[in-house]
Amino acid sequence: MKQSANQSQKPLTANVNAENNLEIGGCDLVELADKYGTPLYVLDEATIRAICNDYKNAFKSYSKTSIMYASKALCTSALVKILDSEGLGFDVVSGGEIYTVYKAGVDMSKVLFNGNNKSFDELNLALDLGVGRISVDNFYELALLNTIAQNKNKTVDILLRITPGIECHTHHYIQTGHLDSKFGFDLTQVDDAIELILNEYTNLKLHGLHAHIGSQIFETSIYADEIDILCSEIARIDKKFNIILNEINIGGGLGVKYMQKDEPPSTYEIGNLIIDKLNESVKKYGIETPRIFLEPGRSIISFAGVTLYTVGSSKQVPNGRKYVAVDGGMSDNPRPSLYQAEYYAQVANKKEDTQTEDVTICGRFCESGDILIQNINLPKLDEGDILCVFNTGAYNYSMASNYNRVEKPAMVLVNDGTSDEIVKRETLDDLIRQDIIPDRLRK
Ligand SMILES: Cc1ncc(COP(=O)(O)O)c(C=O)c1O
Repeated sequence: MKQSANQSQKPLTANVNAENNLEIGGCDLVELADKYGTPLYVLDEATIRAICNDYKNAFKSYSKTSIMYASKALCTSALVKILDSEGLGFDVVSGGEIYTVYKAGVDMSKVLFNGNNKSFDELNLALDLGVGRISVDNFYELALLNTIAQNKNKTVDILLRITPGIECHTHHYIQTGHLDSKFGFDLTQVDDAIELILNEYTNLKLHGLHAHIGSQIFETSIYADEIDILCSEIARIDKKFNIILNEINIGGGLGVKYMQKDEPPSTYEIGNLIIDKLNESVKKYGIETPRIFLEPGRSIISFAGVTLYTVGSSKQVPNGRKYVAVDGGMSDNPRPSLYQAEYYAQVANKKEDTQTEDVTICGRFCESGDILIQNINLPKLDEGDILCVFNTGAYNYSMASNYNRVEKPAMVLVNDGTSDEIVKRETLDDLIRQDIIPDRLRK
């Protein structure tokens, strides 16, 4: 089976150059660190475009496919421009993401709005800007959205988010009748929702069903089960209510290779499986060939991104491990401390064959849990060395905070030997920009 870019641990252009430094997109990482400072997020444009092509090619034979990038993984204006130029649509989950794609010039009919508690203002904005689909999550939202649509004298195109009773625990999954999830309508609630849409909420036009079963998925058969459930529901609904639903959104979730041991499936493997299963289900349930929406996030952007850090202090615990501290940590990458996520790193300025040692890479934040990598064998680290942590494109910057009042890093886009800053490093003034000192405290 053909490989796809999400199966690579590093950006596809990662290399060691003549200076023996790591380079990405033809740019020397040590020079990038020097030019833009650290911590620094680096994104490789060639890798982003390669995975877009992998997705498009994998689903080429099923013409009714819409690939909607899950913006929550990483949403910046320049990235939106790249993905838009590749023909992807956008799954958004907030007013902020809607605004970002709108300002980047995206055709808003290619945008799909998800979320379990969309606010009045966010739904209002979505309708004003012409967002193409809203995936309605619950009864409260049905009523709210219908009222907003009525007031604007508009009909809104919607999907219903359902909880299909499949729970994914990354490498294996369980199927249950009902699922304890904050997202979506339980299968037992779907008919009530449809009754309301058909009889009361007449400013809503239902096109299909949406589900998302998890993230960092390695087991392809879970998608087949999901498609079977969605198609059988569509057939049941068509029959019971005499309506035709012809869209299914299967969410995102395809995995990536954080560590050497990780073996995510390729886009081609899931493409074949999903298309086969769709064709089979169309026959089995006698339904119209549906349009399929995919919402990949991590598997579009994770491996295209790395983070560069400068090594600072270190501490050898007597008879224990050696901690090496870098100038970032849990505020630019909260994933290890949030859910013990593992990362691989290399030293950008040292040959792999220099003397190595086992170390723990910790951050600079005031939390004992601020550990980026628990145990890694690296060339002996000295202060000033540049550490490159791989696979940080997804859910790093988008989950970053200002914990300890530390400025968020800059982000650069590299391609063919050029680098462009696409997110500015925050300044100290940015950190106090929203602060207000009441007059009575000014004396
Ligand atoms: C509804 C929905 N779609 C898509 C995604 C993207 O998932 P991933 O980044 O694993 O592809 C998520 C992630 O949480 C999600 O909740």
